[in-house]
Amino acid sequence: MKDYKRYLITSALPYANGPVHLGHLAGVYVPADIYVRYLRQRGRDVLFICGSDEHGVPITIKARKEGITPQDVVDRYHTLNKKAFADFGITFDIYSRTSNKVHHQTASEFFETLYDKGEFIEKTSKQYYDTEAKQFLADRYITGTCPKCHKEGAYGDQCEACGTSLNATDLINPKSALSGSVPELRDTLHWFLPLDKYEPWLKQWILEENKHWKSNVYGQCKSWIDAGLQPRAVSRDLDWGIPIPKRIKGSDGKVLYVWFDAPIGYISATKELTPDWEKYWKSDDTRLIHFIGKDNIVFHCIIFPAMLKAEGSYILPENIPANEFLNLEGDKISTSRNWAVWLHEYLEDFPGKQDVLRYVLCANAPEAKDNDFTWKDFQARNNNELVAILGNFVNRALVLTQKNCNGKVPAPGALNDFDKQTIAEMPKIKDQIESSLENFRLREALKFAMDFARLGNKYLADTEPWKLIKTVPERVNTILNISLQITANLSAIIESFLPDTAAKIRKMLNIDAITWENAYKTDNLKAGHQLGEPALLFDKIEDSQIEFQVEKLQKTKTANQALCAPVEPQKPNISFDDFSKMDIRVGTILAAEKVAKTQKLVKLTIDTGIDKRTVVSGIAEYYEPEKIIGQQVCILVNLEPRKIKGIDSQGMILMAEDANGKLCFAAPIDKTGNGSGVK
Ligand code: MF3
Ligand code: ZN
Repeated sequence: MKDYKRYLITSALPYANGPVHLGHLAGVYVPADIYVRYLRQRGRDVLFICGSDEHGVPITIKARKEGITPQDVVDRYHTLNKKAFADFGITFDIYSRTSNKVHHQTASEFFETLYDKGEFIEKTSKQYYDTEAKQFLADRYITGTCPKCHKEGAYGDQCEACGTSLNATDLINPKSALSGSVPELRDTLHWFLPLDKYEPWLKQWILEENKHWKSNVYGQCKSWIDAGLQPRAVSRDLDWGIPIPKRIKGSDGKVLYVWFDAPIGYISATKELTPDWEKYWKSDDTRLIHFIGKDNIVFHCIIFPAMLKAEGSYILPENIPANEFLNLEGDKISTSRNWAVWLHEYLEDFPGKQDVLRYVLCANAPEAKDNDFTWKDFQARNNNELVAILGNFVNRALVLTQKNCNGKVPAPGALNDFDKQTIAEMPKIKDQIESSLENFRLREALKFAMDFARLGNKYLADTEPWKLIKTVPERVNTILNISLQITANLSAIIESFLPDTAAKIRKMLNIDAITWENAYKTDNLKAGHQLGEPALLFDKIEDSQIEFQVEKLQKTKTANQALCAPVEPQKPNISFDDFSKMDIRVGTILAAEKVAKTQKLVKLTIDTGIDKRTVVSGIAEYYEPEKIIGQQVCILVNLEPRKIKGIDSQGMILMAEDANGKLCFAAPIDKTGNGSGVK
């Protein structure tokens, strides 16, 4: 590989419309951070860039739903996500945001440069316009009947019922989500990047010159290119985003498409970080690497490079090690279905255990294919690997030294063959880690890093110093010295993966960081050096903690099923008179008992304010009779009396029934007088 002088590492700018979760961390941010920390350990000149992606239609939809401004939405999640990343030890040099002034300026200038160079084509097309809201409608703002499955409520870009991608004009009976009115098609002007023009170049650059890209990345690019590239619009009719520069004719009411401005965010953030930014973005000896998830591949491998190429003064990415997706307990992670482990919640439940999650996510990183996160595996990896291998070795080395040498590094005596063999393993493992990391095989690198701890464990198990204390103390000194040197090196070896743990080990050893270059030597600790206090690095995660997490997810699932199951269709309209015929009152349950020989029935005595009467109700599966006494309910008092299981039932208790048939009382929220009419 070329001799690069500096590294520019970017990781996808997450949308600031929701909190980041474990899938984001596993696919993008943990791998990027491991790589960057490793480069820093090797003394490389590196910048690590990230920030919030604050434009795009979903942010405006979220704002509208909550009755706040898009700026409020992005302010909230920018702050939350920035903190979550910091809490997990992700060491960005800058976490910027695309609503910044520098970014608005940089992105509009980029657009102007391409415009002035004549790199865009202008095209007028027909798009839906809401005449009441007086604006063009983004695809997500149009709903209608799916032309494929004929379900209602499909969006202008996709039917969520059958998964088909749609064009807004495909929808049957389109409706505006803004005003509910029927939109009309109107002409609108947009600017397009003619990707077809770049096709021959992309073919050469990706398919010939970048054969070293990961196969999932290369494969996706190849299928896009093979399918033929089309011009892509880089503008939108929207009022949230970066306005198309005023001087451009027809720019009124138009903003840059979010995927045009977002990757330029990498450039603006670098600008914000250092006046030297051009050195990083415009010299051939910078190695530019984008860490992303698989849904971002086309934008980073095809569209952004075409933009950079069209602009002309920037370097192109040398690699784009995109990962696949991490699933959660067998299901796709989904923000809208709340099927996720949110980073801030994880730290509430497992305080101080950020390294455990970093470890499990790296060990399970979806590098080549989608992978699954399960809480059981999380527990097993913590207990069987972090506690039993890494924690155990470090603890034994330190406690033995504490006990036998007053916590001072003993001087070694003569080395035997086994000592020498063990010592010789260290540079080998270190080389393996280097080569895995350089090739973005981070799971493999972590496995090798654990081999370093395994080496130490095996050394102690085979030499059994605890048996030699009385008989050959000089030998014990040698063994402990070597064990402590392994521990010191281990702190550097695991630093990029488990930074918090590495710092704890350094503290226990009372040392500063050891450079990567020195992380195999046997004289990093001098004889006589005073160590700090030993403490446990990891503790066991109990079954109950795991069951709690699994139950939490199970609750989400049940709630989702109830919400997603189809509700009953609306009945035909009735007149107000029809409705007024029902005499519904608030009453209080005075007594309740199960009706013998039935599963579902409960006999209730109700104070209706008019009288005390008996009602039989089918609620036994949902309520225990003794627990509902004193509860207020709504009762239809003029329903013709009926005999149910031989009991005269005078009226009916109102219940809400969800799509799964589950019942709950429909009753006043605040306590009110018995006999109050419900209208
Ligand atoms: N916000 C996008 C996502 O979460 C990623 C943007 S990456 C950038 O999928 F390059 F555009 F910044
Ligand atoms: Zn459909």
